[in-house]
Amino acid sequence: MIDLIETIMDTNAAAASLGRVLADSYVLMLKTQNVHWHVVGGAFVGVHTLTEQQYNDLFMAVDEIAERIRALGKVAPGTMAEYLQLARLSEGLGGTDDASMIRGLVEAHSTMSDLLRKEIDIMDDLDDYGSEDLFVQRLRVHEKTAWMLRSILEQIGGGKAVAQVKADAPVATKVEAVKEDKPEKKAKKKEKKVKAPVAVEAAVPVKVPATPKVAAKKEETVTASNNGGGRRKLFGVKADG
Ligand SMILES: [Fe+2]
Repeated sequence: MIDLIETIMDTNAAAASLGRVLADSYVLMLKTQNVHWHVVGGAFVGVHTLTEQQYNDLFMAVDEIAERIRALGKVAPGTMAEYLQLARLSEGLGGTDDASMIRGLVEAHSTMSDLLRKEIDIMDDLDDYGSEDLFVQRLRVHEKTAWMLRSILEQIGGGKAVAQVKADAPVATKVEAVKEDKPEKKAKKKEKKVKAPVAVEAAVPVKVPATPKVAAKKEETVTASNNGGGRRKLFGVKADG
């Protein structure tokens, strides 16, 4: 099975992408736990409870990401030294007061979302739809988490704290970088779409079982357009008719 996967995509590149997200997720999990331990103010119960849910979600996520790497036949990074080397997120809390710590988490989840958009593009180019789907799920979680934490920040720190997060330069720069990539990405996808039907028609002759109506034609070549699209070619699946 692993051999089959390796023939249809670059599993080394996919595992590297998964490893980077695994490392960032691990750092963010610890960072979240650190806030969970050190929050003290009026929003203690809410923040303490929410951050517990968040680090539990990240704990499940790192497990799933690491197991995806194993499913691709590669070795998953599994030490703190490797995580700190691979991670793009920093461990620091950005301050010891509640507003600074929560702002640090909002920034981390926003940065994580930006990084995931990049990694999703990479997985899309690699045709690794399984990993891409996992990253899209994680993107939704990080966007939702940033929104929830931003709401708490609004409650405890007022508009000033939220404005500081919105004006954060590194995150804004990353968003611009993502936008700049769009024209090139669109052109690539367009090129892919144009090429795909031709390749599939040539590669997938599919047998259709004989019926009274088609008895004279025992075998018929069915094009991809009426049989479910191009991904079937990746797995060598035959249509049932
Ligand atoms: Fe706890």
